[in-house]
Amino acid sequence: MLATSDLTQLLKTLADPTRLRMLALCGSVELSVGELSRALGMSQSRVSNHLRLLREAGLLSERRAGTSIYVRMAQDLGGEPGKSLWAALRAGLDQSPEHRRDLLRLERVLGARARKSAELFEDLAADWDKIGVDFQTGQARQRAAASLLPRHLVVADLGCGTGYLARGVAGLVAKVIGIDRSRAMLAQAKKTLTAEFPEATIELRRGELDALPLADGEVDGIVAGMVLHHLPELAPALAEMRRALKPGAPLVILELEPHAEAWMRDTLGDLHLGLEPASVVAALRRAGFESIRVEPVDDHYTPRRPDPKQSGPAELPLYLVRAFAPGRP
Ligand SMILES: C[S@@+](CC[C@H](N)C(=O)[O-])C[C@H]1O[C@@H](n2cnc3c(N)ncnc32)[C@H](O)[C@@H]1O
Repeated sequence: MLATSDLTQLLKTLADPTRLRMLALCGSVELSVGELSRALGMSQSRVSNHLRLLREAGLLSERRAGTSIYVRMAQDLGGEPGKSLWAALRAGLDQSPEHRRDLLRLERVLGARARKSAELFEDLAADWDKIGVDFQTGQARQRAAASLLPRHLVVADLGCGTGYLARGVAGLVAKVIGIDRSRAMLAQAKKTLTAEFPEATIELRRGELDALPLADGEVDGIVAGMVLHHLPELAPALAEMRRALKPGAPLVILELEPHAEAWMRDTLGDLHLGLEPASVVAALRRAGFESIRVEPVDDHYTPRRPDPKQSGPAELPLYLVRAFAPGRP
């Protein structure tokens, strides 16, 4: 129940044609004080006085954004008496020529607002990526993309090392199983991946590529990045991958083109200096994989050379091979 003094204030506030016009304008859209003044064709100081009275009567809500104040009709209009009074007065306003003129001006004001916002982006485009609007960790972007994908996928990253590829996949799928023979690499992967992603979505298993610690058909996909050139033979590892994949599931291999950086044998433990894409394709075919495709990657592997006399890092071309376990629908 409203006190008599409050009711008197409410009646006084609404007994003014300008304030009624103001309420009608900001009933359906939030307006800055400047925009409201332009829509009413009045000075800002005059509008501000009326706004104060409307706010004090609980008829208006206000939001500050930087130096601007935005106003909107209060949702509950201060309670039942406000709502009923406004409903009665609103009908009469629709017939008023002043209000119709206000609406035409409001249309122009809102049009100018939309144009200003659109023009702003025309000017900002070139600098947009430099002005710090990036997401802090990239997780937001990854989560947004993930919400479009099936949620149940389990993917294995073979020879995961410190989790470079796993990091690109985690968050997009239900679980990434990182597999590596090195305890130290797995420990490092655990540290970095669990800091970035929920623990339940990361699992790390120690094991060999030719005896994968995976059950038959356990995974919906496999990535194997920069690991095949460590293997004396491809066939045992590819047979294991086929076993661990669900029927028709994809395998993606990231590899180096053959190169001449012999120091990588000793320094990075590489057994082969890259692999011919054709030999990888042939091995996949022999292992029974289907729909095999080599795709160029517009990127380079850039390990730092140990010899300080050799300038700059190596720039080694990469490629992807995509294939599917047999049994695709
Ligand atoms: C060059 S690193 C690549 C790491 C990661 N995939 C990346 O792209 O950054 C190779 C990794 O494969 C692992 N590795 C090499 N041969 C392996 C094998 N036969 N079984 C399991 N892991 C192996 C190594 O321990 C190492 O962590």
